[in-house]
Amino acid sequence: MNDIDPDVDPDVMRVDDIELTVRPIAIGDVERLARLFTRLSPSSVHFRFFSPIARPPRAALLRLADVDHGRRDALVALDGDEIVAVARYDGRPDRDPGASHQAEIAITVEDAWQHRGVGKRLAVRLAGLAADRGYDTFVATMLPDNRAALGLVHKLVPDATVRWAGGEYEASLPLVRAS
Ligand SMILES: CC(C)(COP(=O)(O)OP(=O)(O)OC[C@H]1O[C@@H](n2cnc3c(N)ncnc32)[C@H](O)[C@@H]1OP(=O)(O)O)[C@@H](O)C(=O)NCCC(=O)NCCS
Repeated sequence: MNDIDPDVDPDVMRVDDIELTVRPIAIGDVERLARLFTRLSPSSVHFRFFSPIARPPRAALLRLADVDHGRRDALVALDGDEIVAVARYDGRPDRDPGASHQAEIAITVEDAWQHRGVGKRLAVRLAGLAADRGYDTFVATMLPDNRAALGLVHKLVPDATVRWAGGEYEASLPLVRAS
C-alpha cells in the first residue's frame, strides 16, 4: 500500500497545479480543524463521524489534534493556512502475541477537494508511517452507502478484505514496510 506514492517530496502534494503542504497534525491545529468542519457537507460529516454532528465540541477537536505520533498519528494537507484534508490512524490494543498489529484509519477530505487524489495520497503516506512503526494492517470502518470510501479502499488495495459487520463495512488493508 505504501509503494505507490507518486510524489517526490513527502512534504508537498501537487493537485491540479496547486501545491498543498503535508505535515503531521499538531495541537495548534484545533482552530483549523474547527474551520475545516464548517466547510464539510452534512453527508461528509455523516460518513466520517457516523452521525450528524452540528458542531464538534472543543474537547473532541483537541483529542483529534493531540496525537503522540506513535500509537496515534495524523497527517494534514493544507492549502495555504487552511487544512483541507486529514488522514489519521489510531492503534488498536494488541490482542495476542503473534496477532496482527492493527490500526484504525479515518480520512476526511474537504468537499471541494474530494475526488482529486488527495485522500489516496494521504492514505499512502500514512500507511508508510504506520508500517515503519510496526503496524501491519489498517482497518477502515465505513457506512454501507459510502461509495467513495469503498472505492478508495479498493484503489489502495485491490484485493482488500471487506466484511459486513453490524451494519457497517470493515475493510482490512495490509501494510507493506518501505525499508
Ligand atoms: C472518502 C474520501 C476520504 C475519499 O477521498 P478523496 O480524496 O475524495 O478520494 P481520491 O480522489 O483520492 O480517490 C481515490 C479513489 O477513491 C474512489 N472514489 C473517490 N471518490 C469517489 C466517489 N465519489 N465515488 C466512487 N468512488 C470514489 C475512486 O476509486 C478513486 O480513484 P479514481 O479517482 O482513480 O477513480 C473522501 O471522499 C471523504 O473525505 N469523504 C467524507 C468522509 C469519509 O467518508 N471518510 C471516510 C470514512 S472514515
